[in-house]
Amino acid sequence: MSDPRDPSAPLAAEGGAPVRDTFLPVALPSVGEAEKAAVLETLESGWVTTGPKAIELGRRIAEAGGAPHGLAVNSCTGALHLALAAWGVGPGDEVIVPTWTFVSTANVVLHTGAKVVIVDVDPRTKNIDPSRVEAAITARTKAVIAVDFAGQPADWDALRALCDRRGLKLLADAAHSFGATWNGKPVGSLADATCFSFYAIKNITTGEGGCLVSADADFMAKAQVLSLHGISKDAWKRYSSAGSWYYEVTAPGFKYNLTDLAAALGLAQLDRHTDFADRRRAIAARFDAAFAGVAELTTPWVDPRAGHARHLYTLELDLDRLSVDRARFLELMKAENVGTTVNFIPVHKHPYYRDTLGFSPADFPAAERVYPRIFTMPIYPRMTDRDADDAIAAVGKILHHVRR
Ligand SMILES: Cc1ncc(COP(=O)(O)O)c(C=O)c1O
Repeated sequence: MSDPRDPSAPLAAEGGAPVRDTFLPVALPSVGEAEKAAVLETLESGWVTTGPKAIELGRRIAEAGGAPHGLAVNSCTGALHLALAAWGVGPGDEVIVPTWTFVSTANVVLHTGAKVVIVDVDPRTKNIDPSRVEAAITARTKAVIAVDFAGQPADWDALRALCDRRGLKLLADAAHSFGATWNGKPVGSLADATCFSFYAIKNITTGEGGCLVSADADFMAKAQVLSLHGISKDAWKRYSSAGSWYYEVTAPGFKYNLTDLAAALGLAQLDRHTDFADRRRAIAARFDAAFAGVAELTTPWVDPRAGHARHLYTLELDLDRLSVDRARFLELMKAENVGTTVNFIPVHKHPYYRDTLGFSPADFPAAERVYPRIFTMPIYPRMTDRDADDAIAAVGKILHHVRR
């Protein structure tokens, strides 16, 4: 029998043996003994919800991001919403966001009552195109949200200059880019405020979680109050000896606080982050080397100014050279036991946004061109070199069979 990793071996989808025996998921968290011990210790401490661990996590994330203030919250979505709310964004305002993102970036704008203005991206990075932002600004524009897609910072030089010139708030959706840099400066120090995600498969995880960081102390104080029902500062202390039963609600806030259980997990993850980041870079380098010069593939372009966090590794298929479309290609990958996904379905293509806000594909030439071609390979710290090589072998084998 031929080696199933040999490119000319029969495809698993057509009765051949898959390149690997077990399924390689496209993403998995790395949670070990340190995380288990930290969560257990917190469970036993009697303080399971927001408290000292959540405060410590906010402080340490801010420090890593080069920002003076940090507030750990229960999602990046919550952090984004809080930032807009603390800036007073609301009905009558407009906020510009990229179409190439997870839908929370756009949803939070609608939650404030503002209008979401969705613009196209740079086809090389899939990050918001500053010239499209400029063209979309009106007298009502209040803020711009830029996403660091896949862990590669957006063009923060151009965005910063534009927002300063036009008097707009600049918000970083850094869900993918904890640990990344731009011109040597950490993500966390580049926008007026930055939101990180600690969702299950992010660069570090708290299961669900996130963090808002900023250099603006007044803004952060407002965000903190809004994060827990608008209750006056340090609401969480009311059950400790340092607190009091008396509190005042100063705004109709939200319920976005992070539990200490989750924060304990996050602190243990943070201690391992350098190793995680190194491993992600090593896998990306392995993919880059394997796929460089493969005519049917485009590997991710990295801006020389970017220190890329390698949260995602995408490939783009040259469909003109293939006898299958992206959907079939991904089915063939799954049959070879290698998981993949698509990041992202552009926001303007989702029925709610398409139908109620009336976006037209013609407004998004870059996203429309990239979307049918792109997919995401597995990349995460606990992947072995052999796992990465299996994923590479699956791509090579399928290409062998479907190239025209
Ligand atoms: C670009 C982007 N923004 C925001 C989010 C939302 O993060 P969370 O799940 O922590 O709310 C995600 C999550 O996947 C994301 O990919």
